[in-house]
Amino acid sequence: MIQFNNLNQEIPYQLLKKKYDEAINADQKGIEAISISSYNKEINEVDSRYVNLKFITNDEFIFFSNYDSPKAYSFNCHNQIAALLYWPSINVQIRIRAKIKKTSNEYNQKYFFDRSEEKNALAISSNQSKPIDSYNQVKENYNKSLKNNDLKKCPEFWGGYSFTPYYFEFWEGHESRLNKREVYKKSDDAWKHLILQP
Ligand SMILES: Cc1cc2nc3c(=O)[nH]c(=O)nc-3n(C[C@H](O)[C@H](O)[C@H](O)COP(=O)(O)O)c2cc1C
Repeated sequence: MIQFNNLNQEIPYQLLKKKYDEAINADQKGIEAISISSYNKEINEVDSRYVNLKFITNDEFIFFSNYDSPKAYSFNCHNQIAALLYWPSINVQIRIRAKIKKTSNEYNQKYFFDRSEEKNALAISSNQSKPIDSYNQVKENYNKSLKNNDLKKCPEFWGGYSFTPYYFEFWEGHESRLNKREVYKKSDDAWKHLILQP
């Protein structure tokens, strides 16, 4: 589930919420899974991965991750990303482009404090995406962290990312293949509406 807080009143946010409610009603599983594509300028490579979109607060989309991971390196050198939602239960794809930034330390501490100790132990014990000798070693590191670490204090290498879209495309599949594509593109602080050919 995605938690909506004080959702922005502008059309694309309201449309996203409408589609979200339809997908929830259609029993969409994994509705919070969002693909984030990034570009690492230093190695000249594009990559994608799913994360869990936790909050949409006003116009900010927020997820949490490791600040020392490959995605974090990409965001550091190129802060523009593409995000993608697909809800098969209603056959809707939402494409997003945005600039990404870290959430504040205060925000991270509060979020971390409220999470389960098990989740926090994993966040603390894992050098995300770095190779390790075995899966057993992963479990040992996790168990050590469960016993030894302060599981209420968010480490500096972990926290939230927030992005505010400047581009949305809502794609609705139709059996007839006359798929509907609507774009909302921000220009000079206003949303420009476009219909794209399927
Ligand atoms: C459905 C789904 C949700 C995920 N949610 C998160 C998440 O919220 N945060 C996170 O760091 N990784 C999450 N992951 C793992 C990432 O896809 C990825 O493996 C990890 O973040 C390392 O990515 P990187 O090497 O590009 O930094 C999730 C994976 C899946 C399949």
